Amino acid sequence: QDVIGFRGTRQAGIITAAQDRLHFCAFDVITDDRAALVALLKRWTTAAERMTRGEQTTPDGAVGLGDYTPPADTGEALGLSASKLTLTIGFGPGLFGPTPAFPDARDRFGLGARRPAALTQLPAFPAERLDPDRSYGDICVQACADDPQVAVHAIRNLARMGFGVVSVRWSQLGFGRTSSTTTSQTTPRNMFGFKDGTNNVRAENTDLLERWVWVKPEDNPASAQWLTGGTYLVARRIRMDIEPWDRGNLLEQEQIIGRTKGEGAPLGQDKEFDAPDFNITSKGSPLIPMTAHVRLAHPDQNNGVRLLRRGYNFTDGSDGFGHLDAGLFFLAFCRDIGKQFVPMQTKLATRDALTEYLIPNGAAAFAIPPGLRDGEWWGQHLF
Ligand code: HEM
Repeated sequence: QDVIGFRGTRQAGIITAAQDRLHFCAFDVITDDRAALVALLKRWTTAAERMTRGEQTTPDGAVGLGDYTPPADTGEALGLSASKLTLTIGFGPGLFGPTPAFPDARDRFGLGARRPAALTQLPAFPAERLDPDRSYGDICVQACADDPQVAVHAIRNLARMGFGVVSVRWSQLGFGRTSSTTTSQTTPRNMFGFKDGTNNVRAENTDLLERWVWVKPEDNPASAQWLTGGTYLVARRIRMDIEPWDRGNLLEQEQIIGRTKGEGAPLGQDKEFDAPDFNITSKGSPLIPMTAHVRLAHPDQNNGVRLLRRGYNFTDGSDGFGHLDAGLFFLAFCRDIGKQFVPMQTKLATRDALTEYLIPNGAAAFAIPPGLRDGEWWGQHLF
């Protein structure tokens, strides 16, 4: 029961109950040879499906090729179960030729007309410090599993198979989910110690998923219908200023988020899942401050806009000054990045009190195709 089906209407890893661990990888395509890229996508599909069943990348595996050949599988997942591994592929803006942000990108594979309408690079936002070596990418693979070694093994082997066709641009490990994507899950906590994912879009919210997550035929011209039934992914590495945060008093922390730290209830309410009431005041001031994160991110304040958040905590050791290099690797799926993520992030970046403690230093956007039917391979309807 720890195998998540690889094929289906949607790719696994979106509304799948969020697993505990993440290895996310962004690749650059380093060839102009369309046939080589297609061949890799086919080989990747076979290996990915095998790994999600708990098998090695190929039947030869770690020891089957004999003494004088590098093993086909690197071997570190031998003896481990599938651990709910999901592998989710996405395609980045640069694959489709030049964009305003990347005027020099070439349309190497004749995909210009196939670009989905909402697939552009993210605009620059205030207060971010993007590192190009932690941003962008032509292809992403999100590996989620309940065992970190299984997720790392999957990305490592896909990267290895891609030699000469793709190269790893950046990758990010995540060690604890920061959202719930089904109603059966308890709400986890982020690195600021607050419950995160309380008011998320979940697998059971089919109406919300249709409205805010899955791409519809009318969203794209005929040439980009390959994305119908898929979605878009925004990935942002948001470093959190842990030490200054830890010096803030409890009331201040709760007012920045707009929820209590213990229960996770909206300020002025008792229970985690009580609806926030933004009109309650105390001595003339709103209990949930005008600059609180949950007020500014709430659908009532954003023309109803929702995102499916599926991020992870990360800690990449310390930074040489004794500060934790830790934060939230924000992952959010939505039907239109420009109409959903961009306006919300623009508002948060300028008005959210939380922004003072955040340093976004990586960002990328990808189109996430729908799931595969039997016999299909990753990207088949695009190429
Ligand atoms: C809600 C933390 C970044 C969008 C929340 C909540 C917390 C939180 C504690 C309340 C619980 C919940 O409903 O999930 C953080 C932290 C962030 C971060 C620590 C950065 C390190 C972002 C970003 C966005 C975002 C970048 C989108 C641009 C939302 C939304 C909600 C939310 C839509 C739900 C609001 C509601 O409907 O009540 N976040 N968040 N968050 N956050 Fe964030």
